[in-house]
Amino acid sequence: MVLTAPDHRYVLCGQLLEETSQWGEVFALRSLELENPMKIKNLHDLFVHELRDIYNAEKQLVKALPKMAKAATNDELREAFESHLEETRNQVERLESVFAEVGQKASGTTCDAMKGLVSEGSDIISDAEEPAMDAGLIAAAQKVEHYEIASYGCLVSWAKELGFQNAADLLNETLDEEKAADAKLNSLAMARANAEAQEEVAV
Ligand SMILES: [Fe+2]
Ligand SMILES: [Fe+2]
Repeated sequence: MVLTAPDHRYVLCGQLLEETSQWGEVFALRSLELENPMKIKNLHDLFVHELRDIYNAEKQLVKALPKMAKAATNDELREAFESHLEETRNQVERLESVFAEVGQKASGTTCDAMKGLVSEGSDIISDAEEPAMDAGLIAAAQKVEHYEIASYGCLVSWAKELGFQNAADLLNETLDEEKAADAKLNSLAMARANAEAQEEVAV
């Protein structure tokens, strides 16, 4: 369900409603929207639903990544988180371009999966001691990247299937960034973080 007011017209479930100055009516529709989330009837609905999910997920990450960067004990890992934070901000804007490409208002729905993954990252920050911190942060971040890779992989395929080639190209740029971020994290874990956590245990 989409409710927009660019020129005092409202679109509800794809139907253009008559112009109205009765805001009470509009607020009632908004309540209806909140109580009755959009039904997913076809691939287009699924695509929009997934776009809203990942839009919210990326915004959660814009808040979470600075905390992970701050908690990192190694400079290279901190820089990797900071660099991916900049990419993530750009990915939020890229998603807004995708929404525009497909004629939808940019809006998010709570991504419960990302809430859980971010919460697991917070547990590492609060519970891990220094030798294990970086390996734990990398694992938490890689879980996030894999979720994003799965989401963007589906979105690219669905955009192509629906004939949204420009949107598919934009989404594919982000997919490549997520894969590169995952590979970078993996190399940091293999080069240093896992071994340091293990050495400390052996002492
Ligand atoms: Fe992302
Ligand atoms: Fe990412």
